[in-house]
Amino acid sequence: MSDSDHNMTLTLRVWRQDNSEARGKFVDYKVNRISPHMSFLEMLDVLNEQLIAQGEEPVAFDHDCREGICGACGVMINGQAHGPDKETTTCQLHMRRFQDGQKVVVEPWRANAFPVVKDLVVDRTSFDRIMGAGGYVSVNTGQAQDGNCLPVARQDQESSLDAAVCIGCGACVASCKNASAMLFTSAKVSHLAQLPQGDPERPQRVLDMVAQMDAEGFGGCSNTYECEAACPAGVSVEHIARLNREYVKASFCSSAQPTIQASAD
Ligand code: SF4
Ligand code: FES
Repeated sequence: MSDSDHNMTLTLRVWRQDNSEARGKFVDYKVNRISPHMSFLEMLDVLNEQLIAQGEEPVAFDHDCREGICGACGVMINGQAHGPDKETTTCQLHMRRFQDGQKVVVEPWRANAFPVVKDLVVDRTSFDRIMGAGGYVSVNTGQAQDGNCLPVARQDQESSLDAAVCIGCGACVASCKNASAMLFTSAKVSHLAQLPQGDPERPQRVLDMVAQMDAEGFGGCSNTYECEAACPAGVSVEHIARLNREYVKASFCSSAQPTIQASAD
């Protein structure tokens, strides 16, 4: 990047909040010398260098891989989860998508089940607890089974992998007016329900993961498909339909009972 590339100036309106108990507020910052080739997170790095140089507290934001893989970096950008580009995480969004002089509003995910930790960082451990309720397969110790002993039909492989691409970012929750985690939970249930390795725990898995999702305070599916539109991994709402079928089958055609207590409300 040459120096002459750093030719954009933006006004950022950023959500600042000290901790989960404190009242938050928007604060405006003018950020100069932004290159259109920078990612959105690199632009936030420039803002933070500017704030540190002025003796101010830098903006806290989550990130890890910066390659669209880990799911850590999600924020609302001008009201859209991960910003304006389809199937793109915040770290993969580039500043060329914005105009010089534009005002950009940056907020954390808004959901009761994702409390704000600080500024743009939210606590998404509710997703971990949903995974802990059943998003795994139990494996007996001993020699690994020969992969050729477990043939999987091509269309099941494809469909299972389409669900497995979920990176757990939470954009589906943040973009849903009910803050529903159905797309996330359905991706995890659907991934394992279509593989022979996931079959033994299949009814228990769906009952417990849905019970945990409810216990965490996520809302019901709003049927607006906003989750699918916001998902950076392209997870389809078809997996929600499969989750519902799995749930009905487990409830009426198996002896499994949820082992997790749903919340009182
Ligand atoms: S389903 Fe999509 S939007 Fe939701 S957590 Fe997974 S990757 Fe993120
Ligand atoms: S930092 Fe890992 S997906 Fe954005």
